[in-house]
Amino acid sequence: MTQHRRVLMCSPEHYGLKYEINPWMHLDDSPDTLLAMGQWQALYSTLTVDLGVQVDLVDQAEECPDMVFTANAGLVRGKQVLLARFRHPQRQLEEAHFASWFEANGFEVLKGDPGCYFEGEGDALFVGSTLLAGYLKRSDICGHRWMADCFETSVLSLELVDDRWYHLDTCLFPLNADTVVYYPGAFDPYAQSVIHNSFNTVVVPEEEALRFCCNAVVIGRHVVLPTGCPVLCAELEERGFMPHQVEMSEFLKAGGAAKCLTLLLDNSG
Ligand code: ARG
Repeated sequence: MTQHRRVLMCSPEHYGLKYEINPWMHLDDSPDTLLAMGQWQALYSTLTVDLGVQVDLVDQAEECPDMVFTANAGLVRGKQVLLARFRHPQRQLEEAHFASWFEANGFEVLKGDPGCYFEGEGDALFVGSTLLAGYLKRSDICGHRWMADCFETSVLSLELVDDRWYHLDTCLFPLNADTVVYYPGAFDPYAQSVIHNSFNTVVVPEEEALRFCCNAVVIGRHVVLPTGCPVLCAELEERGFMPHQVEMSEFLKAGGAAKCLTLLLDNSG
């Protein structure tokens, strides 16, 4: 399940900070756009050159500064995509652009109930054949039944309780089909016990969770994650994985890091 080879990215031509919709974003602390471009290119080259991932690109719309976070575009399974319905009006502008890209690239675009927010792979991650789905901060739990029906899969609904980890992919990532890496403090006690009882787990320390160490891309035995996460890197090496650290400072200013700059396009199903 974690041998993902094809992802969607968006070169940050119009990346910037024009609004505040999470606690990391501050209008008086805008990203350096040149530096951001360099960091994005380093991630792109780690994925393509070092790890052999196929990267498809979608053009960034000028009015959509957060469109670089392609993980939020939707959730792909086979040739179908459940399109995002963003909670914030500022990001709703992205929906039509992503829908056009998916249609032009042979995906069947499915749209859920307009009253039910869903922020794509930011809040929905497959672990083996089970879908882990975060809710409350951005996505609504009402979409989980729809996802389960569309993809004929079981969904574990996980409540997020801390605004700093507002998407599931900011505080959890599947390492393989039965192991997840996560920061328990981002989840309510019931979700913590569901995770703990359903999978083998690796718990990360708070200071690394704050560096978005869980915003990681796993390609087989390789894990691409933000710099500044030595405890998790050591743990990964001990388990036979190879960490690849990428500097993500300019994307952290918008509340994102490595994983949310990619969307899996070959989620098998
Ligand atoms: N500024 C963006 C937002 O708040 C960041 C999104 C990060 N995406 C993610 N999948 N964690 O929506």
